[in-house]
Amino acid sequence: MNPPTTPKPIRATLKVLITAGPTQEPIDAVRFIGNRSSGRLGLALAQEACDRGHSVKLLLGPVPATETDNVGAALTGIRTHGAVERFRTTEDLQGLLLREGPWADVVVMSAAVADYRPRKQALDQKLRRSQSGLTIELESTPDLLAGLAMSRRPGQVLVGFALEPRERLEDSARDKLARKGVDMVVANPLETMDSGEIEAHVFERDGSRRSTPGRISKASFAGWLFHEIERVHGAAR
Ligand code: CTP
Repeated sequence: MNPPTTPKPIRATLKVLITAGPTQEPIDAVRFIGNRSSGRLGLALAQEACDRGHSVKLLLGPVPATETDNVGAALTGIRTHGAVERFRTTEDLQGLLLREGPWADVVVMSAAVADYRPRKQALDQKLRRSQSGLTIELESTPDLLAGLAMSRRPGQVLVGFALEPRERLEDSARDKLARKGVDMVVANPLETMDSGEIEAHVFERDGSRRSTPGRISKASFAGWLFHEIERVHGAAR
């Protein structure tokens, strides 16, 4: 007789919505306010979610992608397991989240969303040079993550990100956790921006904090984070 085997835990297949990359807020027909996000972290997360058998929708901002570069190759892979939609502005992303948010079991909000946008946009013209300078009035954008949290369905897990100076990392992450009403905040020190590696600390609503073993590659981080997300989703069901 064969010895009894311990059954392997069956991992639930989740519907995962991931946002990645920067937003661009137009000033006129050719200029915009943007940021330096490359979207690589969100792409790594989407690839990991596909590899784990989850159903994936990736909402990706305006980062360059061609059929022959790494981003293009990653998108081709993700499209075979799920869907990719592109956005440019915070408003575009807000519309996509309104449509796709209810579908998701998990929303991973790694996009670097603008906090401010020009109040008036001259989309049909190019502003001329003037010796007297130019003042652009900015208005706040809506907090998309907080909006998702207000309309979330039971059991849905929301994950936010925070890129912060190291000395304020924990306080800012805990503040965002409470202010935005999400389940997990992934905090990274500012130095990890533009780097191929990441050092991350995950803060949860029960007060817990889990950290990566120092700086790890973005691909390893994606596996590490999805392990934590699956645990939190399992506990929330
Ligand atoms: N975020 C969002 N909508 C915005 C700005 C940010 O949903 N208008 C999301 C980001 O995708 C990220 C999280 O909120 O997951 C934290 O973003 P961050 O810019 O660090 O937070 P803010 O709310 O802008 O707070 P602060 O300016 O105090 O850092």
